[in-house]
Formats: sequence, structure tokens, C-alpha cells
Amino acid sequence: MEYELAIVTGASSGLGEGFAEALAGRTRRMVLVARRAERLEALARRLEKIHPQMKCLCMPCDLAQPTQRESLLEEIKTLPTGRTLLVNDAGMGDYGELATAQLARIRQLMEVNMLAVAELIHGVLPRMLRNGGDIVNIASLAADVFLPDFALYAASKSFVVSLSEALRLELKSSGIRVVAVCPGPVHTEFGSVARRDGYDTGDMPLKSWFYTPANTVVRDALRALEWGGARCYPSCKIWLSGCVLRLLPLGVIRWILSTRPRRVAPRPGDEI
Ligand SMILES: NC(=O)c1ccc[n+]([C@@H]2O[C@H](COP(=O)([O-])OP(=O)(O)OC[C@H]3O[C@@H](n4cnc5c(N)ncnc54)[C@H](OP(=O)(O)O)[C@@H]3O)[C@@H](O)[C@H]2O)c1
Repeated sequence: MEYELAIVTGASSGLGEGFAEALAGRTRRMVLVARRAERLEALARRLEKIHPQMKCLCMPCDLAQPTQRESLLEEIKTLPTGRTLLVNDAGMGDYGELATAQLARIRQLMEVNMLAVAELIHGVLPRMLRNGGDIVNIASLAADVFLPDFALYAASKSFVVSLSEALRLELKSSGIRVVAVCPGPVHTEFGSVARRDGYDTGDMPLKSWFYTPANTVVRDALRALEWGGARCYPSCKIWLSGCVLRLLPLGVIRWILSTRPRRVAPRPGDEI
């Protein structure tokens, strides 16, 4: 077995579920984290049936709640030591202007996309430094650009990439590998969770061309980890998009984004 323990957050759907499936044959124990306990239980039983040598532990947790994050880390500390993989996949978006966002949702996004990522790494690092391990942080192609109408999300993913790059260098001598994964659009529950009621931000031109299958994202991410890559842009088209974004002058990016198709909800103070 490659790992004694694999911890996958966001395992109740989408990419996280895909990571859990892909890692099931490579770890002795797996911890599945998300809020929807029944989904985690169903996944755990399914994976244990396919891989009877692996033990799957469900740890339902609202990662937006600091006290629940602390309890999760305490529970993880009680598990047998050994080489550990942490997949920080849980995340959410909130489509729409910041001016009209709900404060509770702003806080939730920042807790899940940033604070939980940093705290889980900090909590699990001691066992990794003793027994080895790897870290996969799911960021986004949005990390490479500022995105009006998705501002906080893109900023939170820039945080994840920056944190991952710096951490990778800090941990270089320890042998702990850190990869930041930057997918483009993927068909998961992400879009419906991010959509605000009655709010339509329009659609990105050629959006369907950018979609990458979830299993390609998982496969490319785990390959990049094996090769010791710092960042992974799953699929050629997303890798190419990342290159173009980095080459374009800032002024051009600002102009393109200022012409984006959008339908805006009323802001506070607007005449209705
Ligand atoms: N889909 C895309 O187009 C896309 C593109 C680039 C990057 N990403 C990133 O990929 C990651 C996975 O997203 P996905 O596409 O697989 O979306 P998804 O299907 O909505 O999955 C999100 C996962 O995060 C968990 N989660 C959300 N809030 C949570 C909370 N407060 N506490 C605990 N778990 C929470 C959800 O579980 P519960 O609801 O059960 O808690 C779910 O398992 C995210 O970090 C996302 O930003 C997605």
C-alpha cells in the first residue's frame, strides 16, 4: 500500500468522490469528509466492497465551522500513524457581484475554500513529517485570473495556489509533495451550489468546449503528484488556457472581462 491513510474532503460528490474512488486501492485506511453523512456512508460501503482490504471511515463535518474542523483533526490524530495523503477538495462558489452577496455565504466560502485548507494541512503535517505523505489541493483555473461576478471564489483559489507553491518549497527536504490542481469547468454539483436564486451571470463564450470530465481531472492530478509537479492543469485545453492567461497583458484581460455577458441583480441602493 502506498499510503496508510488518505483523507479526502468533499468526498460526498463530484471530484472528491472521484478522488476517493481512484485512491481506494492505494491506501489501507480512508477518511471521507463532507456534510452529507448518508452520501459518505454509501460511498464508504461501495468502496469497501470493491477493496475489502481497505477500511473507510466517514467523518461528517461542516468545514465552515471552526469547532467542527477542530473535532475532525482531533479524530484524525487518533488514527494509526503512517504515510498520509491529504486531498483538500471541498469547496464552493457564489456566482454574482460581491455587493449583493449574503454575508453568511461570504464567510462560508472563505472558511471552506481557504481557512479549512490551511488548518487541515497544519493539523495533518506533524504526522506527515514523522511518517511521510503528500498533499493535493484543489484550486481552479480561476486562480490565474480575477473574475468579476465570481470575485471571491477566484481570489480564494489564488490563495490555494499561492499557499501550495510556498508550502511545496518549505517541505522540499521532507519529501512531502504538494500539488495545486487547477481544473477548468467540470460537470459536478458545483454550478448549482454556486448559483444564487434568481441570478444569472450569463455564460462564458465557448464554455462547453472548456469542460473536462471529472475522471480526467482526478487522473491528471494524481499523475502530477507522482511526478512531483507543482501545478496541474487537467487536460490539454485547460493547460493551454492557463498558458494563454499568463501570456496575455493585464490590460487585455481587463478589457475582455469588462465585456463579459451578464445580467445583474439589483444592488443595495438601486431603484427597483
Ligand atoms: N466543478 C467545477 O467546474 C470546478 C472547477 C474548478 C475547481 N473546482 C473545485 O473542485 C472542488 C470540488 O468541487 P466539485 O466540482 O466536485 O463540486 P461539488 O460536486 O459541489 O462538490 C463539492 C464538495 O465539497 C463539499 N463541501 C462544500 N461545502 C462544504 C462544507 N461547508 N463542509 C464540508 N464539505 C463541504 C461538498 O459536500 P457536502 O455538500 O456534502 O458538504 C462536496 O462534497 C472544489 O474545491 C471546487 O472549487 C470545481
